[in-house]
Amino acid sequence: MTVLAGKRVLLVVSGGIAAYKTLDLIRRLRERAAEVRCVLTAGGAQFVTPLSLSALSGNPVHRALFSLTEESEMGHIELSRAADLVVIAPASADILAKMAQGRADDLATTVLLATDKPVLAAPAMNVRMWEHPATRANIETLAARGLRMVGPNEGDMACGEFGFGRMAEPEEILAAIEGFFGAEARLSGHRALVTSGPTFEPIDPVRYLANRSSGRQGHAIAQALARLGAETTLVTGPTRLADPAGLTVVHIETAEEMLAASQAALPVDVAVCAAAVSDWRVATPNEQKLKKNGGAPPRLELATTPDILASLAGAGNARPRLVIGFAAETENLVAHAQAKREKKGCDWILANDVGAGTDTFGGAENQVHLIEAGGVSAWPRMTKEAVAERLALRIADHLAAEGAPAGGGAP
Ligand code: C5P
Repeated sequence: MTVLAGKRVLLVVSGGIAAYKTLDLIRRLRERAAEVRCVLTAGGAQFVTPLSLSALSGNPVHRALFSLTEESEMGHIELSRAADLVVIAPASADILAKMAQGRADDLATTVLLATDKPVLAAPAMNVRMWEHPATRANIETLAARGLRMVGPNEGDMACGEFGFGRMAEPEEILAAIEGFFGAEARLSGHRALVTSGPTFEPIDPVRYLANRSSGRQGHAIAQALARLGAETTLVTGPTRLADPAGLTVVHIETAEEMLAASQAALPVDVAVCAAAVSDWRVATPNEQKLKKNGGAPPRLELATTPDILASLAGAGNARPRLVIGFAAETENLVAHAQAKREKKGCDWILANDVGAGTDTFGGAENQVHLIEAGGVSAWPRMTKEAVAERLALRIADHLAAEGAPAGGGAP
């Protein structure tokens, strides 16, 4: 039994010379007992024939959006409904651009717009197309929406050039697909809590103290943990993000409310405090809106807010087995974060540099150091979604090595 047995892969083949390698990918998927259905674009059909795809996949090939015969057999919505994972190989610059724009002008792009299934793309294009700012922006947009990617690799290209843009080899794409399905249920039976976003601390009924946190990193972590099967509660301050699907979202405004909602979510196996909690609140918010009245400006007396991370880490019997915090630093990143780990009593700290020019607050990317009791590892700069996914897998490894989940489920 392989992790792929019975898994349903919808394979979108777009236009690129690398499409010939996709034939080998189909063969390998079928050898591992996966079910494969193919959608072939007009460009893809210039490189591989529908007959090859259907012979190898054992299923009819889908090509036309407005085909009576194809739609009656299996319509575009049904195609994605009947899949566990959508794979685009090769993913041309064009299909990625269309996806980024949300276009739906053929069967492949319509399926990609209509699907709510995870999508894995194996980009393949000329190096300058890959490096073009338009493609870079499209990739960033798509990654932020959760598109997974394998490759491209660096190497010789069919066009005679050398560089990034070569489609990942079939065995690498296969490994990414196996990794996806293998990871899928790794946290099932486990419970997770994630805090995210800023807090709003009222000054009066209309004004508040807050910060620039977008909530992007915390939301992505909650989503990644839920995707691995954890029963996840996301406690979030006000953000402009949509509530992620498949988990419990609790909306709060103040640090005190965030603490109460976090405590209410216990017991959990893992708590990740990614929220940018305000350090201070106004001691006694004014019940009415403060008036200017032409006199001296009001003086705000501040009080300290509760430290949610420290209180979860010090929660005695209710302490999650793994408590993870963030440290946003502008200098001496690692040393300050190590000290913070000890002071807060948490297990891991993800340290990120938020100095001028890093664009970490509110940006799409993050570069973190993971600080544990035993050492420090520097992760490469990547999207916040990729940081979230890597962290979720590290958490799954750690909890698997440790044993039984909270709430008594199977390990
Ligand atoms: O603000 P500070 O640098 O102390 O934040 C470090 C970590 O502590 C972050 O993970 C943050 O979410 C958490 N924190 C918290 N409650 C606070 C302050 C910070 O949970 N009141």
